[in-house]
Formats: sequence, structure tokens, C-alpha cells
Amino acid sequence: MVKLRIAMFDSKPYDKEFFDRINADPKYSYEIHYIPGHFNKDTVSLARGFDAVCVFVNDAVDEELIKELREYGIRLIALRSAGYNNVDLKSSYGKIHVVRVPAYSPYAVAEHAVALMLSLNRKTHKAYFRTRDSNFTINNLIGFDMHGKTAGVIGTGKIGKIVCEILKGFGMQVLVHDLYPDHKFAEQTGAKYVDLDTIYKTSDIITLHCPLTPENVHMINIDTISRMKNGVMIINTGRGKLINTRDLIEGLKSRKIGSAGLDVYEEEGDYFFEDFSAEAISDDVLARLLTFPNVLITAHQAFFTREALASIAETTLENVRLFFEEDKLPNEICYRCSEGKCVKQEKGKCF
Ligand code: NAI
Repeated sequence: MVKLRIAMFDSKPYDKEFFDRINADPKYSYEIHYIPGHFNKDTVSLARGFDAVCVFVNDAVDEELIKELREYGIRLIALRSAGYNNVDLKSSYGKIHVVRVPAYSPYAVAEHAVALMLSLNRKTHKAYFRTRDSNFTINNLIGFDMHGKTAGVIGTGKIGKIVCEILKGFGMQVLVHDLYPDHKFAEQTGAKYVDLDTIYKTSDIITLHCPLTPENVHMINIDTISRMKNGVMIINTGRGKLINTRDLIEGLKSRKIGSAGLDVYEEEGDYFFEDFSAEAISDDVLARLLTFPNVLITAHQAFFTREALASIAETTLENVRLFFEEDKLPNEICYRCSEGKCVKQEKGKCF
């Protein structure tokens, strides 16, 4: 039997470890070619001769690249992520199927969001360096009780819901906003659906758990920041472009924003997942962000748990198997699905 060939872009040693482990199952045993670089116009030709390409969050799959993949006979783009904002779904529609991993470990991301909150609040990231230097003073490390404060959770999907439950456990008042409210969930947890303005005006901590769509690009901007409480903490583990970073910096400079925990950044594609420790950062916005003592940046690691990596590898290989061996696409995403309008008429496929 001819082995299916997968070109896996932007792959790191941990991807290889988890994919090799799952791929050892005889029902897969695919030929996986691990390519460390991003998927882009310079690397797309490496996909020639493969059956499927597998990409990650910072691989921008645009119209030109889709055209090229199509010429190579690629029939499937398998995303190793839940988010799909990096793929031009309109261009791929009717040409190449796109599948994703809709859920791997929402706990991983939710727990990381809360880790950012706790670190920023109690300044453990700063205390760590002090005590290592035998400096046992606690000046300027003062935080606040989260108990009794108000959290605003934007997006109550799989991740946002877990964040709500954790914060409720802290005794916080949890306000939520979603385009499609889940009132049963609100009733069960005691979270309260409100409009965005109420979230902005009353939250001590605002945390973003909605996908990036054309409608919510830069939803956190100079105007929305001006409506927030003084000293608000902003957490973003969603997607970088949900925040206008220049406006965030102005908010931090004016002290309107008390702190920011960012696992994602608008221009992260040029930096995240790579080592720049021996180089100057030429992105002045990122460099400025890194100067603030009350900004904590992690490089898109919220998903990064053993459970999540195993689940991503398993679902991705199963997505490939189901398409090529059973002609099924349960985790397909097309531009109509993303707008909630997909009918999936043909064998569960989008086109
Ligand atoms: P989900 O699809 O389960 O939930 C998203 C929720 O956001 C849905 O309830 C949806 O109705 C709501 N929503 C959509 N547009 C909205 C808007 N404009 N305003 C308010 N709510 C809106 O997705 P899940 O699994 O909870 O993930 C959320 C996001 O987290 C993903 O789209 C992805 O961008 C990000 N993510 C980040 C990771 C990381 O490592 N930092 C890992 C996984 C996901």
C-alpha cells in the first residue's frame, strides 16, 4: 500500500515527538516530513509530491499559496490548531479542504490565562528574580484579592467557559459576553451575560476568549480602553489582532491599564516560537511592550501541555485518515462554517 505523505510545516521537536508517537499506530504509519520553517512563498514548493500539508497558527495560507498547492495536487490542509484565521477560507473553498482540531485541551488555555492573571496580580515573575538574587524585600509586589472583584470574559466557548468556572472558584463576580449566549451555562455557573460596554466599564480583569474575525479586529482599542476602569488588567490568549497594540501601549503609559498578560501578539509570526536572544528586536512595538514591568508576555504557549499536544497529534492524523481512507471530513472548516452558514450537504463535506 502506498503511504500517505504529509508535509508538516513550522514543526518543532515537540511536534515530532508527539506526532511520531501517535503515528506509530499501524492505522496511520504515514510518511511525515517535518519542515521547521514557516509555510510561505519560499517554502511552499516543499509540498510538491505530498498528499496533505499540515500547518500551524503563524503559517499564513493565502490565495497564492492555495493556488500553488492545488497545482501540486494537494487535497487537504490540516491545521494543528483550533483557530483558522490564518487561512484564506474563501480562496480554499471548492479547491482544497481545510480541517482543524476544534478542541484539544481547553483546560490548557484557560489555566494559562489564569496563570497570567495570578502572576501579574501577585508579581511572582518579579519575586522569582528578587529572591534568586537574595533580595527578600517585598516593596512594590503588592497585589489585590481576586475574591470579590469583577472579571469580564469575552467569548464563552470551550475555553471561556472553563475560565469562568475557575474565576468563580476564586469568588469573583463573572460577567460574560458572547455573540451566542449560553444562558443555561450562565445559570449553572452564576456568570452573567452583559453587553460589551458593561464588561468594559465594570471589569477589574478583562480576558479575551473569542476567535479573531473581520468584525472584531482591534476590538480593544483607544476608544474601548477609555471606557475601562482605571488599573484594569487585560489578558489575551485569543489572537493578537483582537488588540490594537499601539493603543494598549498608550493605555499602559497613561496608567489607565494596570497590567497586561499577552500570550498572543499581532505581529507574533515574525518572532514567536523562535530564539532571538542573541539579536536586536527590530519590531519597535514588541520591544516597547517588553519594557513594561506590568506586562507579561508568553510566546503563544497557552495550548502547550502534554495532553493538548497528544490530542492535537491524534486529531490531526485522524482528520487525514478519515479524508483519504473514508472520504469523511468531520472537522472541516470553510468560510461558510465560520459564518455559521455552512450546510455541509455532500457527505458531511463543505463542498
Ligand atoms: P470556541 O469556538 O469554543 O468559542 C469561541 C466563542 O466565541 C463562541 O462561543 C463564539 O460564539 C464566541 N464569539 C465569536 N465571535 C465573538 C465576538 N465577536 N464576540 C464575542 N464572542 C464571540 O473556541 P475556543 O476553543 O474557546 O477558543 C477560543 C479562541 O482561543 C480560538 O478561536 C483561538 O483563537 C484561541 N486559542 C488560543 C490558543 C493559545 O494557545 N493561545 C489555543 C487555542 C485557542
